[in-house]
Parts: sequence; C-alpha cells; structure tokens
Amino acid sequence: MIREMLGIAEGILQDLHDDHSEVDELLEEIMDSDNGGERSRLFAQMKDKLLPHLKAEQEVLYRRLETGKSGESRKFGMEGTSEHALVEQQVEKLVDLGNPMSEEWTAEFKVLQDLIEDHVIEEESTGFSCARDEFDTEQLEAMSREFQTRKAQLGTRVA
Ligand SMILES: [Fe+2]
Ligand SMILES: [Fe+2]
Repeated sequence: MIREMLGIAEGILQDLHDDHSEVDELLEEIMDSDNGGERSRLFAQMKDKLLPHLKAEQEVLYRRLETGKSGESRKFGMEGTSEHALVEQQVEKLVDLGNPMSEEWTAEFKVLQDLIEDHVIEEESTGFSCARDEFDTEQLEAMSREFQTRKAQLGTRVA
C-alpha cells in the first residue's frame, strides 16, 4: 500500500511501467520527427520493444487475470487481450503502408499512439489494481522474472 502511494510498483508492475515509458517516448519522437529515415529507424526500435512486451505480458499476466478470482480481473484480462490484438494489427498496418512520411502513415500512426495510450492508462490503473488483488508481492516478483525471461526469448526470436 505504501509503495502504491509512493508510486512504486511491485515486481512485474514496475517492469511494465518502465517499458510503457520507453515506448511512449519513442512514439513521441516518431511523431516529432520530420525525417523519413529517422522515423523508420525509431519505428523499428519501438516495434522491437513493443511486440515482445505485449506477448510476454499477455502470457505472464493477462492469461492469469483471465482466470482470476474476481469478475473484474477476468473482464479486464479479456478486454486487454482484445486490445493487444488491435495494437498488433495497427502495427502490421503501418509496416505494410511503408512510407512513414505519407499523410496516411502519419494518420494511422496517430491511431496507434492513441490506442496504446488509452490501453496503458487502463492497464496501469484497473490492470495493476486487479493484479494487486489477485497476487501477493512474492508472486508479482516471480512474475517479473518470468516476464523478463520470456521477453528476452521473444526479442531474440524477432531479431
Ligand atoms: Fe503493457
Ligand atoms: Fe498491455
């Protein structure tokens, strides 16, 4: 509770928050850039950070919440899973569109940025509070190790 009041998250929750901040910064940099080469480089970097995060968080946290004790956890888990799929689809759309300086790419990128922003706000409020209700600190710590291991495996597979 004190950690929560101080804004310090436990175990996997801190890992998730750290990743969210990094992705958010990259999204801002992409939007602010007026150079196609730089946008492509930053987008690739953002994608390599985001996709393993989504998959690992899905496997380690959402899957457990979907079968959680409370209805709120299960509902959050299911909604979040569906939002992850939308985020992945939008990333794919941007890859397929190609030219990151086109108006269409920029418009679709803004859609992605908004999707991620809304999803992260929900995850760090409702999701984190469900996770704190379902799991104790030790479990959240164990899930942190599992998340990092899985993310590293997925990261090397993607590369
Ligand atoms: Fe996340
Ligand atoms: Fe998520």
